[in-house]
Amino acid sequence: MTTTRHLLTGTELSRPELLAVLRRAHELKAQAPADGLPHPHSLDGRSVALIFHKPSTRTRISMEVGVRELGAHPLILRPDEMQLSRGESVKDTARVLSRHVAAVGIRTTADALLEELAAEGTIPVVNLLTDGHHPCQVAADLMTLQEAFPDRLADDGGFDDLHLAYVGDGNNMARSLALMGAIGGLRVTVVSPEGYTLGPGETTATLSSDPQTGVAGADVLYADVWVSMGDEDSDERRAALQGYGIDDALLDAAAPGAIALHCLPAHPGEEITEDVLYGARQRIWDQVENRRHAQKALLEWVLRAGPFADDA
Ligand code: CP
Ligand code: NVA
Repeated sequence: MTTTRHLLTGTELSRPELLAVLRRAHELKAQAPADGLPHPHSLDGRSVALIFHKPSTRTRISMEVGVRELGAHPLILRPDEMQLSRGESVKDTARVLSRHVAAVGIRTTADALLEELAAEGTIPVVNLLTDGHHPCQVAADLMTLQEAFPDRLADDGGFDDLHLAYVGDGNNMARSLALMGAIGGLRVTVVSPEGYTLGPGETTATLSSDPQTGVAGADVLYADVWVSMGDEDSDERRAALQGYGIDDALLDAAAPGAIALHCLPAHPGEEITEDVLYGARQRIWDQVENRRHAQKALLEWVLRAGPFADDA
């Protein structure tokens, strides 16, 4: 019997699996409907539940459209529509979902809820962002880096010498970039103010508290919001994060040809300047598009569909 695949943190993927997912994502992008080519239909006739306990623009849009492009039906569920909000257990919710849909994507607060959903159900669970992780975003980010640095890739398509410096709050994005970046071979530095860093034992990323030295030699600077969903928006937090934003001067302090990425939503004037957000050195709007293609490949991977149909 094959085991159920999940994407809870992204560390479920080995380097060959991650790179196979990214290869498939590029293939799906090349076949996107805009080119007039047929949709892959690898999930024809199936349904995928998408539960959002937090707001979302990119994830909601790219998942709903992506699921449909794979031939499946996306079932969007908001918390106020589910009995989960009135006390029904995660265990029972998992059992109900498992009787009706092929997979479930969920954006929620606690990683423990996601883990319970995976443990109690019989279908793949995909993390659409939790307090701890955002693996779907990082899959799209790695795809974007393969496009941006085609001459810097290893023979297998992974990264061996590319250096990404994340600048800002040591949050879910920082953690996922560090964890999944390491699988793909990226060198990751997380530059955060004291009190807002990742735990030293959490990842193999280099931790720094100084933006100027932290970004030295980096090919990619990465920004995220200073105040994540669910965080308390305090004066203290904002004061601590002053100076941990990406502007042209910080890009100049990085490696020649360095680019800027941001998972968005952006707050120009805080974690990124408007000049960088819309300027020539960003690949942010490519990241946005790549969400759809990367997630389609991840859905095929968890469901052993499309090119992953013969996976053990
Ligand atoms: N980057 C990201 O996940 O965006 P949304 O919160 O809009 O989905
Ligand atoms: N760290 C942010 C990411 C938004 C996509 C948050 O969790 O709100």
